[in-house]
Amino acid sequence: MEKTKRYILPEDRIPRRWYNIQAEMPNKPMPPIHPATKQPLKAEDLYPIFAEELCRQELNQTDAWIDIPEEVREKYKFYRSTPLVRAYALEEALGTPAHIYFKNESVSPMGSHKLNSAIPQAYYCKKEGVENVTTETGAGQWGASLAYAAKMFDLNAAVYQVKISYEQKPYRKSIMQTFGAQVTPSPSMSTRAGKNILTVCPNHQGSLGTAISEAVELAQTTPNCKYTLGSVMSHVSLHQTVIGLEAEEQMKMAGEYPDIVIACFGGGSNFGGIAFPFMRHNFTGERHTRFIAAEPASCPKLTRGKFQYDFGDEAGYTPLLPMFTLGHNFRPANIHAGGLRYHGAGVIVSQLIKDGLMEAVDIPQLESFEAGMLFAQTEGIIPAPESCHAIAATIREAKKCKETGEVLRQVHRRRPPELRSHRRRNRRQPRRNQRQVRPQGAAPRPQRPGPPPVVHPQPWPATATAARPV
Ligand SMILES: Cc1ncc(COP(=O)(O)O)c(C=O)c1O
Repeated sequence: MEKTKRYILPEDRIPRRWYNIQAEMPNKPMPPIHPATKQPLKAEDLYPIFAEELCRQELNQTDAWIDIPEEVREKYKFYRSTPLVRAYALEEALGTPAHIYFKNESVSPMGSHKLNSAIPQAYYCKKEGVENVTTETGAGQWGASLAYAAKMFDLNAAVYQVKISYEQKPYRKSIMQTFGAQVTPSPSMSTRAGKNILTVCPNHQGSLGTAISEAVELAQTTPNCKYTLGSVMSHVSLHQTVIGLEAEEQMKMAGEYPDIVIACFGGGSNFGGIAFPFMRHNFTGERHTRFIAAEPASCPKLTRGKFQYDFGDEAGYTPLLPMFTLGHNFRPANIHAGGLRYHGAGVIVSQLIKDGLMEAVDIPQLESFEAGMLFAQTEGIIPAPESCHAIAATIREAKKCKETGEVLRQVHRRRPPELRSHRRRNRRQPRRNQRQVRPQGAAPRPQRPGPPPVVHPQPWPATATAARPV
């Protein structure tokens, strides 16, 4: 029988609704806390920072399905649906009986999944009469996507890019400027938050936490301006569910259903996007899929973070979120996967981890690059440093299948290349002993955490399902 490599959905099957997992998850996330009043957050508390419709989506724990505005869906047609691809060559190279599929979001104009949320965020800002938007970015994928979406809706955009990534990936700045965005390396002297950070640490290389603080401050001090966010918050993962909803239809075309869903984890938006639509079938007991988030060993908030209320940014401007965190002042190592250098996880994933409804693994940088190289040499696509972490986790599971002979169906998400990182890797021999380096401030590998230590008022792993043996 002829093997199908790529599964594509026609335009009329691009999702018409986003899936809101908050309405159906067994235990709802604890409420975000207002940093000043210490009271549970209301949507109105967020209005000064975000577009109002996004605030309502953020705290919506009742409606499982949210309509995608027609104007947003028209923009999605620029690149959706994205292909689901069977990785036959990778399977062969691994000699594994597992069936590996990847959801290729790199076909989007900006090269990653980030546009899936940048478009609706810009749309809602425009609809509410906003003229200016600000945001943060690490690797630059989100910054580029937001700059493009802002252009689509005729908004002015200001982007704070983490300094180390601004230096490591200079061409990203050019892409954002092509769409008219103003790009500033963070920490900078342009905000009070930036000045405070540089006063304490003049050589601070920046983190997503510092960039978020500066972008929020600029939004609060600029007329008719709103802040937009590339990950972490629930409304961002909501928009990303177009990924998993499409993949579910494409797996039906392949006549299969995933035993394991894997994605890399920075703030959690792509993980939520591909996993949440499949997770709803676990909640009803129909299915027993495993969900694995792959994070960098140098920024292990899910595997070695603590569950507590913490700020989402360095300066403490954001609400307090009940999250797995390494601490909002944590300074991640300067790894190439700039998009994964974030200290905490969103409230939904933090609750799912606490309830043991998903797993997390931490991947050392060298292992992630080796996985990326093998993927490139077999499937012909050079993955970004971020996606290499998901591929490494997939390869670990595929190798287990080889040992046990189990035929597991794995789905993961992937994105195009940052050649500078790969060039550096090729030049240097991996120094194996370095894998043992523990990031500053990370606790030793804990037992699954009990109730969360209370930082402010109000006093919180993994499951695997046996696959059918061959
Ligand atoms: C390609 C890519 N993958 C993953 C991420 C991590 O973000 P998230 O966890 O929100 O998907 C980023 C962030 O910039 C990214 O650029």
